Amino acid sequence: MEQAGADAVELNIYYVSSRPGRSGSEIEWHYLEVVRAVRRAIGIPLAVKLSPYFSSLANLAGQLAEAGANGLVLFNRFYQPDVDIEALEVAPRLELSSSVELRLPLRWVAILHRRFGVSLAASTGVHTATDVVKVLLAGADVAMTTSALLRHGPDHLRLLESGLRDWMDRHRYETVDQLRGLLSQRSVPDPAAFERANYIKTLASHPAPSR
Ligand SMILES: Cc1cc2nc3c(=O)[nH]c(=O)nc-3n(C[C@H](O)[C@H](O)[C@H](O)COP(=O)(O)O)c2cc1C
Repeated sequence: MEQAGADAVELNIYYVSSRPGRSGSEIEWHYLEVVRAVRRAIGIPLAVKLSPYFSSLANLAGQLAEAGANGLVLFNRFYQPDVDIEALEVAPRLELSSSVELRLPLRWVAILHRRFGVSLAASTGVHTATDVVKVLLAGADVAMTTSALLRHGPDHLRLLESGLRDWMDRHRYETVDQLRGLLSQRSVPDPAAFERANYIKTLASHPAPSR
């Protein structure tokens, strides 16, 4: 791919381990070995696309950067098989994402922004211009979108771009660099807000069920 003219490579490591004998650190070691091998083979920038299912993502992100990753794509969204209860079969069923799923990459982009010298791409749940603004504020270098394009067609990109421009005009930003990372974990007054698991406050703010 490099010889064919690619400017960069995105390496999607997609591995679902179901072997009880395999520890998390063994799996991480394999990820790092793959990244080191690809790094040795190419001279162009290398982005690694990850799943969110790691117990210490910030640690792994640092190790991936050390192994030669120049960028991280947060996150891959695993296809999840369903079960057909009439046919009693495992059924392949593609569910597209929604904006609600943006919260996971949003948190991790904010936490990892400017941590290891890697650029960050947000993937999963980017559907609207508001979503694009959110991930840029959290610190993403780019926003990626798949489900929205499958749902609305490629012209949807125009809406995303014009919506981003409108927001920037209203808030008087001239370049994306001026707003990137303004709400990253190290920029906000309450960094713990990105880590808190405050169920009581969350439940209290939830509207009462309608009767
Ligand atoms: C039909 C379909 C095919 C996909 N194929 C790939 C692929 O070949 N390689 C890859 O890295 N991700 C692939 N993805 C994952 C997307 O790139 C993306 O990470 C994921 O859908 C989450 O983003 P979204 O919420 O914008 O859809 C695919 C997703 C869908 C829905």
